[in-house]
Amino acid sequence: MVISCWGALIRKLLMMKPKVVFVLGGPGAGKGTQCVKIVQKYGYTHLSAGDLLRSEQSKEGTQYGELIGSYIKEGKIVPVEITIKLIKKAMDEKMAQDAAKNTFLIDGFPRNTDNLNGWNKQMNDHADVKFVLFFDCSNEVCIQRCLERGKDSGRTDDNVQSLLKRIQTYMQSTKPIIDQYEKEGKVRRVDGAKSVDEVFVDVQKIFDSEN
Ligand code: C5P
Ligand code: MG
Repeated sequence: MVISCWGALIRKLLMMKPKVVFVLGGPGAGKGTQCVKIVQKYGYTHLSAGDLLRSEQSKEGTQYGELIGSYIKEGKIVPVEITIKLIKKAMDEKMAQDAAKNTFLIDGFPRNTDNLNGWNKQMNDHADVKFVLFFDCSNEVCIQRCLERGKDSGRTDDNVQSLLKRIQTYMQSTKPIIDQYEKEGKVRRVDGAKSVDEVFVDVQKIFDSEN
């Protein structure tokens, strides 16, 4: 009796364990745009690391506001202790509202070795990474899209100076993380240069075959 109770509890906990898809690609590769569509069709919760950092930065009286602001403008990656706390809090809050909402798209993370190590240390036992959705897009297209977005995004980093730094960070720090996941067979690559609807056709093929 006791054993079967434990068995049921363990099964329940396993079912509730968050399932995560990391969404990566250069700045402007279409991560956020496609995440919105994935949420609509597949019911995931979308957590953008960049959005979480921007919202933390703009909070009244936050101790990290200045640090986050300068890292974002310089296209540098914020120390993982800050980012992971925000991601974990957002996941916990979502699951506290509704324990069945346990599928997450984590967009723009892990962006470097520090991010990856932080995740492995703090989250590996608490969440399963199903795969990495990678929007593959040339630097030229990425820059063009962000400059276009910069006309009304209000973002401090959608300008040429910041973008060159963001692309450099992507090539030096993020691409090696994607390559590492590729070796583990975890990357699902999509051609991010196509139109929004065309990209979503390819994205759906991936999610339909994974679910
Ligand atoms: O993904 P997004 O383009 O919104 O990220 C904007 C900026 O937020 C990045 O260039 C970086 O400065 C910061 N960021 C970070 N760590 C992450 C994700 C974003 O420091 N994991
Ligand atoms: Mg984004």
